[in-house]
Amino acid sequence: MTDYFSVKNPATGDLIQEVKINTEEEINLALKKGHDSFKKWSKINAHERSRLLQKWSKKINENKEEIAKVMTMENGKPLSESLGEVDYSTSYIDWYAEEAKRIYGRTIPANTESKRILVTKQPIGLVAAITPWNFPAAMMARKAAPALAAGCTFIVKPAVETPLTTIKFIELAHEAGIPEGVIQYVNGRGSMIGDLFSNSDYVRKITFTGSTPVGKELIRNSADTIKHVTMELGGHAPLIVAADADIDYAVKQTVGTKFRNAGQTCVCANRLIVHESILDEFTEKFVAEVKKLKVGNGLDEGTTVGPIINEKGFNKIVAQIKDAKEKGAEVVLGDKYDANQEKGYFFVHPTVLKNVNTDMIIMHEETFGPVAPITSFKTIEEAVELANSTPYGLAAYFFTTDYRTGTYLHDHLDFGIIGWNDGGPSAAHAPFGGMKESGLGREGGIEGIEPYLETKYMSIGGI
Ligand code: SIN
Repeated sequence: MTDYFSVKNPATGDLIQEVKINTEEEINLALKKGHDSFKKWSKINAHERSRLLQKWSKKINENKEEIAKVMTMENGKPLSESLGEVDYSTSYIDWYAEEAKRIYGRTIPANTESKRILVTKQPIGLVAAITPWNFPAAMMARKAAPALAAGCTFIVKPAVETPLTTIKFIELAHEAGIPEGVIQYVNGRGSMIGDLFSNSDYVRKITFTGSTPVGKELIRNSADTIKHVTMELGGHAPLIVAADADIDYAVKQTVGTKFRNAGQTCVCANRLIVHESILDEFTEKFVAEVKKLKVGNGLDEGTTVGPIINEKGFNKIVAQIKDAKEKGAEVVLGDKYDANQEKGYFFVHPTVLKNVNTDMIIMHEETFGPVAPITSFKTIEEAVELANSTPYGLAAYFFTTDYRTGTYLHDHLDFGIIGWNDGGPSAAHAPFGGMKESGLGREGGIEGIEPYLETKYMSIGGI
């Protein structure tokens, strides 16, 4: 009997589509197909792989409106953000279409006259990816593009909440001429597919974007077959506003980073740490700007904050706000909800909390929701200590017009991505990734293709 799971619109709870759950046998066959296809794909000329990636990017662009609409329906994000995500995704494909042609080796001067040492790179093999619901297109594209550019084959399991965007992307890859065995998708329960991926001898690399606990499990399960791993895991981004910051500018950038995708990103500012001398002014201006946001169905004109993806996510946000209030936080804005458990939609209105302290859960755990807790600091050293007091190390932001404060913060913050007067540092040409429990490896930039390559050297003797 064929099993299906339902993809529902988180803004309305309405059914969008039933998606077939792949059986264990089908998944193992797909892994074999990916493995078998590697022999041919890895030998295709890099310029030809580059051309195919360019064709894929073009096809996605031609279908941009349709893809964005599907993405908004399954994820809930405003249509403008979905359109932006399609562009963000193709920027990775375009970047790696170019990088495919720049997989260089080198020669090393040997220690005797009679030898030469030659270093070359080769693709590692079949790559298995597990991607999240918060960026259904971009997280897949920034894994698939470098994998294919390097000469690897690729199989992805998208999130059960948002498989439709991924399916469309992969259909377009096939239409662009990328062979079916080279890029594939499978659908089903994460733990079952994660186990099949990590136990398979065909898979040489696992790349995952998602929670830290799942990432740790995938790393553990990949140990027996010594797979390569890239892990983009949780975050708990601090955002520091120094006394000398341009406050109006900082407010606008903070709203951008905090409420993107209704706060459901790993790089969202999660803790606003503001100098005590400007705390009142910043809070007042921030609240005025947040009030302009419009909560609603992402397909409706003017919506800037969509729904929370599911009830579990909603309950976590509500519990964090409740805990903060019980421990003394003051609600300056929000703490308002529009939820219907029976229909299956859950909205949280943008919420601003002040007087928060480190006893509160929100100061330690990722919120993944439109909630901005504000605390203050006296000295920059104190701000750094607070910012770094987390096992996470993905993104951090700070606003200052003083280059000494800026350089100090850059040097002392233990985070892989830093935005200095920049609430949107993500870019295809930059190495996205985290320190500590936020992950392993980097995606994007020249660094992003390396994890898909093996280094090999040959010593030539008797010359
Ligand atoms: C994420 O939050 O998972 C990715 C966000 C980005 O690429 O900017």
